[in-house]
Amino acid sequence: MPRKVLVFGATGEIGGRIARLCADAGHHVTGVSRGVNTRPVVDLTGIEMLHGSKLDPVFLQQVCAPCKPDVVIDSVPSIEAGDLLWRHLRGAGNFFFCSSTGRYVPLQVLPADESHPWREPTPVNFQRQCAMDSHFLDRWEREQFPVTLFCPTNIIGEHRVPLDLWGGRDIGFFKRLKTHQPVPLVPCGHVLVQSGYNWDLASAFARAVDHPDAVRGETFIISCKRAITLDRYLETARAFLNSRSEIVPVTPDKLIETIPTVRMRHGLEFLLEHMCFDIGKAERVLGYAPTHTTEQGLIKALAWCVETGLL
Ligand SMILES: NC(=O)c1ccc[n+]([C@@H]2O[C@H](COP(=O)([O-])OP(=O)(O)OC[C@H]3O[C@@H](n4cnc5c(N)ncnc54)[C@H](OP(=O)(O)O)[C@@H]3O)[C@@H](O)[C@H]2O)c1
Repeated sequence: MPRKVLVFGATGEIGGRIARLCADAGHHVTGVSRGVNTRPVVDLTGIEMLHGSKLDPVFLQQVCAPCKPDVVIDSVPSIEAGDLLWRHLRGAGNFFFCSSTGRYVPLQVLPADESHPWREPTPVNFQRQCAMDSHFLDRWEREQFPVTLFCPTNIIGEHRVPLDLWGGRDIGFFKRLKTHQPVPLVPCGHVLVQSGYNWDLASAFARAVDHPDAVRGETFIISCKRAITLDRYLETARAFLNSRSEIVPVTPDKLIETIPTVRMRHGLEFLLEHMCFDIGKAERVLGYAPTHTTEQGLIKALAWCVETGLL
C-alpha cells in the first residue's frame, strides 16, 4: 500500500538511497535537507524536496507537518532532532532512525545479533550512539514513541572513500597501493570486517515501510551477509589496483608518527575490533536481502574513486 514517507537527510549517501528506493516502490516521498550538502547525491527525480533544518521547530510545524507523513525517516538522527520530530510529526505511525553497530563493540559473541549487550560504555564503543538509542527505546517503552533503529556496519559503495586499514577513509592509503609505494600497517590481517553496501543498507529502511506494525520498538542490524578478514579485504583492494606495494608491519605509535591523519579513538582502535554480525532478524522480519559482499562493495567504491579521479 502506498504510504507517505518523509525522509530527513534525503541528499545524504544513505538518506538519498532510502528516498529513491521508497519512491521506486510506489510510496509518496518527500525529502528534507538544509540544501548545503556538497557530497554526490543519487538521482532524486520525482521526489519533492523541502529545504530547512530538522532542528527548526517552526519549519517542522509549518512546512513538514502539513505533509502528514505516515513514516518519518532520519538517516542522521540526534536526540534533539528526534524529540523535535516526535513533537511536531506525532501523526506519523513510524519513525525510522539510523544508528550504528559501533554501539556493540567490543563483541563478546560472534556473530553478534541484536541481543548483544550495548548499553554500558566501553573504551571503544560509540557512546553518543548508545545514549541516543537508549533515549529513543526508553521513550518507546514509556510512551510508545513508534521508533525503529537500524544499525549498519561500516558503509561501502559508490560515493564514498572505503574504509582503509589505518582505521579511517584516507584516499592516501589507496593511492599508496595504486602507486606501489610501501604501506605501513599495524598487524591486523586476522581481524574481521563486515561492510554494508550503501544501496543494500537503504533497502532495509524501504522494506520496513511495508511492515509498520512489525517494526515498532525494534532494532535491526544491517550489513552484508558475512564478515571477512582484513587480510582478504586488503587483498581485494590490492588485486583491483594491481598493487605491488610492500606491506610494512609497524606499531600503532610508529603508524601515527608516519601517517599523521591516523586517529586512535574511533579510528585504529575501532578497526582492530572484530566486526561480525548476524543479519537474520532483518532477513526474517523485513525480507532484507543484501546483494553485495564486502569485497563487491569495496570494488564498487574503488571503481568510483578511480572514475572520479580521486584515485
Ligand atoms: N560511515 C559509516 O561507515 C557508518 C557506519 C554505521 C552507521 N553510520 C550511520 O549512517 C548514517 C549515514 O547517513 P547518510 O549517509 O545519509 O549521511 P550523510 O551522507 O552525511 O548525509 C547527511 C544528510 O542529512 C542532511 N542534514 C544534516 N543536517 C540536517 C539538518 N539539521 N536538517 C535537515 N537535514 C540535515 C544533509 O543535508 P544538508 O547538509 O544539506 O542539510 C544530508 O542530506 C549516519 O547516521 C551514520 O551515523 C555510518
